[in-house]
Amino acid sequence: MNSITKSLLKSIKHGQAAWLRSNSTHSRKQCLPKLVLGIETSCDDTGAAVVDDAGNILGEALHCQKEVHLKTGGIIPLVAQQLHRENIEQIVKEALSISGVSVNELAAIAATVKPGLALSLGVGLEYSLKLVNKYKKPFIPIHHMEAHALTIRLTNQVEFPFLVLLLSGGHCILAVAQGVSDFLLLGQSIDIAPGDMLDKVARRLSLSKHPECHSMAGGKAIEHLAQTGNRQQYKFRVPMQHYRNCHFSFSGLQNLVNKVIIQKEKEEGLQKGELLPCVKDIAAAAQHAVAVHIVKRTYRAMLFCIKHSILSPKNATLVVSGGVASNQYIRKALQILADVNGFAFLCPPPRLCTDNGVMIAWNGIERLRAGLGVLHCTDGIRYEANAPLGIDISKRVEEDSIKVPRLKMKI
Ligand code: KG4
Ligand code: ZN
Repeated sequence: MNSITKSLLKSIKHGQAAWLRSNSTHSRKQCLPKLVLGIETSCDDTGAAVVDDAGNILGEALHCQKEVHLKTGGIIPLVAQQLHRENIEQIVKEALSISGVSVNELAAIAATVKPGLALSLGVGLEYSLKLVNKYKKPFIPIHHMEAHALTIRLTNQVEFPFLVLLLSGGHCILAVAQGVSDFLLLGQSIDIAPGDMLDKVARRLSLSKHPECHSMAGGKAIEHLAQTGNRQQYKFRVPMQHYRNCHFSFSGLQNLVNKVIIQKEKEEGLQKGELLPCVKDIAAAAQHAVAVHIVKRTYRAMLFCIKHSILSPKNATLVVSGGVASNQYIRKALQILADVNGFAFLCPPPRLCTDNGVMIAWNGIERLRAGLGVLHCTDGIRYEANAPLGIDISKRVEEDSIKVPRLKMKI
């Protein structure tokens, strides 16, 4: 290298360094990640997390009330509210302290405001607004089901649109996610949610007394016992087979399972509350019927979306989330369905399928980036126990009356 080239290179390097120095404060400011604190209290989990705009989870904390509610045989709203009140401050502090972020550094605070148990939602909203007003931060109100639907974009690279199936203790929803706050509702449960049904069956079977299931959520206990049960011992009719729409129903199925339980108790000479010897087989058959019902409705949703070019057959994706989506049997059934129809199949990891603060913080980031629903004034903000997700096109789905082919499932 000759001396002219050397000095030229030196001056370029110097120039670059000087430029970098003069711009460093500016660029650092520009490059600072945006941070959102998310707060979740819609049901029986108090969750908080700090997430940045690159999807890094900087800190998270969660308090589950499950054990208390298992003892009382279901969620008592006043008890849930009291437990949220007792834990929210500590959980938020913990998430912030793990992340090493102070409230002043946050770009916004996001909290679930709908749908959910009114008394539970109220605790999270009141606490969040206190922080928002004290630190003069923007507030992002979050729809709990939107947050479940978008969690996958934190863990995987998924572009809109995609088909999303949300299975939880309070909801069962089939929708197309077209944008951060742009959903088409294809169908939902007309009575109870699958998690609710599994919890009720587990309670009726007294699974909390089973040595293998102590302190497991109802759905989890059913999944666990079903692994070693024989589902062919009982056959439960799959709900809504004659309705060619994408709605769901689980209360009739729950009644069918209850009838078998009562019959078996009679045969065995057992009282209600005593453990049946055949719990594993009943759990396996009930779980199978739930899986088949969910698969059939999702199959119709896939065909509808392809028929109307809402999704492209070349790169369609099915996303499944919510507490019941952590069930490996149901996941496997949906994986088979996705493979048959050439859909990619994605689920967040189980800990992000159940309620948590991370999904709320991430939904906050998504809304912040899209400039959607970021409030600088919180006057008149209320929680809503019931709140639909997206534009309801379920009637349009029903009008099409799409017949679903038979699907052989070897799970
Ligand atoms: O999404 P989530 O945490 O809370 C709601 O928003 O409802 O879902 C909780 C539900 C409960 O009904 C619980 O029994 C069910 O998810 N669940 C499961 C499993 N783990 C949790 N259901 C089936 N299989 C599981 N492994
Ligand atoms: Zn949930």
